[in-house]
Amino acid sequence: MKLLVVGSGGREHALAWKLAQSPRIQLVYVAPGNGGTAQDDRLRNVGITDPNALADFVEQEQIAFTLVGPEQPLAAGIVNIFRARGLKIFGPTREAAQLESSKDFAKAFMKRHAIPTAEYETFSDVAAAHAYIDAKGAPIVIKADGLAAGKGVVVAQTLEEAHAAVDMMLSDNKLGDAGARVVIEEFLAGEEASFIVMVDGKHVLPLASSQDHKRLLDGDQGPNTGGMGAYSPAPIVTPQMHARVMREIILPTVRGMEQEGIRFTGFLYAGLMIDAQGNPKTLEFNCRMGDPETQPIMARLKGDFSKVVEAAIAGTLDTVELEWDRRTALGVVLAAHHYPDAPRKGDFISGIPPETADAITFHAGTTLADGKLTTSGGRVLCVVGLADSVRSAQSVAYEAINHISFDGMQYRRDIGYRAASRKHS
Ligand code: AMP
Ligand code: GLY
Repeated sequence: MKLLVVGSGGREHALAWKLAQSPRIQLVYVAPGNGGTAQDDRLRNVGITDPNALADFVEQEQIAFTLVGPEQPLAAGIVNIFRARGLKIFGPTREAAQLESSKDFAKAFMKRHAIPTAEYETFSDVAAAHAYIDAKGAPIVIKADGLAAGKGVVVAQTLEEAHAAVDMMLSDNKLGDAGARVVIEEFLAGEEASFIVMVDGKHVLPLASSQDHKRLLDGDQGPNTGGMGAYSPAPIVTPQMHARVMREIILPTVRGMEQEGIRFTGFLYAGLMIDAQGNPKTLEFNCRMGDPETQPIMARLKGDFSKVVEAAIAGTLDTVELEWDRRTALGVVLAAHHYPDAPRKGDFISGIPPETADAITFHAGTTLADGKLTTSGGRVLCVVGLADSVRSAQSVAYEAINHISFDGMQYRRDIGYRAASRKHS
């Protein structure tokens, strides 16, 4: 059987890599894919991005089902289009994807269903937004309502930064329609974790926990990025915390969507902030898997993932049990020169070591042309190491990275430091 994965990042390489391991899968198409998916014999890139054209392709090729990686096609309604044509696809509809595509929708939804999150208000009026900031004080967080490719959140430490963020979004329209409304919310302190589950409309199947590193530089300094590295499991998500997040956040979200007549299907990702007392709050929802969290999560998943996705599409996730490699998987992102502001493209990449049982290199911003691999995006590669402890997984990943080079390559040296500093890590 043949499958299709939509997207071109490290997340999609990892999803396609895992699906292709199933003995019943002949080929996994990736649209549009990257240099890594181009190099793997079990995967094939397809240069189509329009959802209707992709649906035509799926019909022609008799593809069994489609898995969508990024949020943009979901928010644009690729699932609605495929379902209307009777094609099997895993992801949320355009309506359900509002949990990610509109921060205001997500916040109002959480309020209606008493799901723990930061206090907030939504504004489209500039003066009212400025007045609210003055009333609340700093630190405070300003978020563009719509999808802004990781540029829509400003964690303002000072009133000046907060006012400037409001001006940038509401007055100067720097983010276009995405910034025409802003959510202004309470600053939450604590440790973040990514809590990702699969939902079939009714049943919920949690994936392994993970933690991302959003800042560019070591010690969580520098600008926010799409994610500079991630590892799984995240020790902060203890069994008790897991049960609590399911009870207070995930299940009320899935039930709430059902009650409101918008059944959620797809990956549901709750970005959590866990405070010093151990109380989790929802920072955001994503309606897809995380990138780079997917890379370590897929590296740990055992068994036939294609069967899991098939069950999710069929509405029988309650019959599935996942098995995880007990080791820690730790992924380090290698980013391009001048990422995240203006990543340079076209640098020649060399030295990627062959995949082993404990080290895998997933591609993101790479292109293969005439047998040569070059950089073509901000996050270029994600090198995942697997080992019995966080520290050993770090050693495996960083050892593999020592072989890889391209001009301007930048990466963090401390991925996993929070987990490594805990006991028994
Ligand atoms: P988001 O896209 O909403 O996850 O925001 C991106 C990043 O901004 C998060 O991963 C956090 O690091 C930070 N952030 C978002 N909301 C808050 C908040 N209310 N308090 C503190 N940090 C936040
Ligand atoms: N790693 C964060 C995200 O995928 O949004």
